Amino acid sequence: MILITGGCGYVGSHAVARLLELNQDIVVLDNLSNSSKSVIKQINKISDKKFKFIHGDLNDRTLLISLFKDNKIDTVLHFAGVKSVSESIKFPTKYYLNNVAGTINLLKVMEQNHVFKLIFSSSATVYDPENQIPWKEEFSTDKLKHPYADSKIMIENILKSICNINKKWKIGMLRYFNPIGAHSSGLIGEFNINKNTNLMPNINKTFLGRQNSLYVYGNDFQTKDGTGVRDYIHIEDLISGHLRARDFIQNKNGIFIWNLGAGKGYSVLEIIEKCSTIYGKKINYKIVDRRPGDLGEYWADIRKSEKELNWKPKRNLDRMISDTYKFIIKSKNNLF
Ligand code: NAD
Ligand code: UD1
Repeated sequence: MILITGGCGYVGSHAVARLLELNQDIVVLDNLSNSSKSVIKQINKISDKKFKFIHGDLNDRTLLISLFKDNKIDTVLHFAGVKSVSESIKFPTKYYLNNVAGTINLLKVMEQNHVFKLIFSSSATVYDPENQIPWKEEFSTDKLKHPYADSKIMIENILKSICNINKKWKIGMLRYFNPIGAHSSGLIGEFNINKNTNLMPNINKTFLGRQNSLYVYGNDFQTKDGTGVRDYIHIEDLISGHLRARDFIQNKNGIFIWNLGAGKGYSVLEIIEKCSTIYGKKINYKIVDRRPGDLGEYWADIRKSEKELNWKPKRNLDRMISDTYKFIIKSKNNLF
């Protein structure tokens, strides 16, 4: 059985849907701090297969102990975490308690139950900014950044350390670049658009009239059109990367790092333009000052993931945006 932490969130819900489609036995743990139980209903519409949902927190050790006792867990896909850079700057200890301590709790209970297979959601935000583009897995991650990134670096280091000591662990750390898009059914996607302040939720807020205009954070970067360039990857390609990573670690002890991106960059203006075309409505925007901490451009070197995982992102930008549109239209009343 696979334990999916954070399975009601944006990325986790797509993993749940895909694993159910593959007839896998799963149990989901989520504290619903950044999601809603209604996501489960939506997943149930995609697949008639029911799954166990446990409403609870990673930091509840007693709950984790009984979860592992009651279910024969073999592998953990660990998505649960808080992820807002700006919030992490306001409340740093929240990020260490939730992400770092929560993960340590999970590892402790996994160890006690002799469960050693783990796929962890890391982020491109761990890379030191001065690294040459495209970013490769072996590049440095030494610098302190903001508590969100630092929490991910700390977890990566803890995972490296436990693997170094106990050779039974089989761990895949996946460094996501910018996941966007939605499930092809339009039934699940990024529901939490009010609180999330990334580019796509903000474009969608503007499209739906929840804000008058999108703020574009700077047009004076050294990039093709002056706006920030990022590596956007379709959420379903991101999930297929997880499944390949899960297969890879089955018979290989140790720790492995893979980038999950598309391997190319698009600018903010290119994304706005594509959304305006596909949504059939102009997305109003205003150029404002740079957002503190933003880099001009970066994208992933995905050769290691392609080679070792025999994986390739298949869905292009048009597909990322058209699936988002389908989701926004179909799930308008479920967005929060
Ligand atoms: P999300 O907020 O949509 O999902 C995370 C889920 O975890 C939520 O449902 C939340 O309620 C749950 N959760 C948080 N803390 C928990 C805890 N202590 N116990 C139990 N449940 C808890 O975020 P997401 O976009 O799906 O991201 C999933 C993971 O991927 C996170 O670890 C995030 O840091 C990482 N990541 C995301 C992105 C991105 O752009 N979405 C990029 C890089 C890395
Ligand atoms: C951000 C986080 C990163 C995190 C990732 C996924 C920062 C500095 N980085 O990455 O740590 O791993 O989200 O959660 O917050 N943009 C606008 N207007 C907007 C929103 C974004 O112009 O309203 C621009 C940004 O300046 C950037 C691009 O769009 O150039 C993408 O931004 P975003 O979606 O927030 O992702 P990242 O900044 O790449």
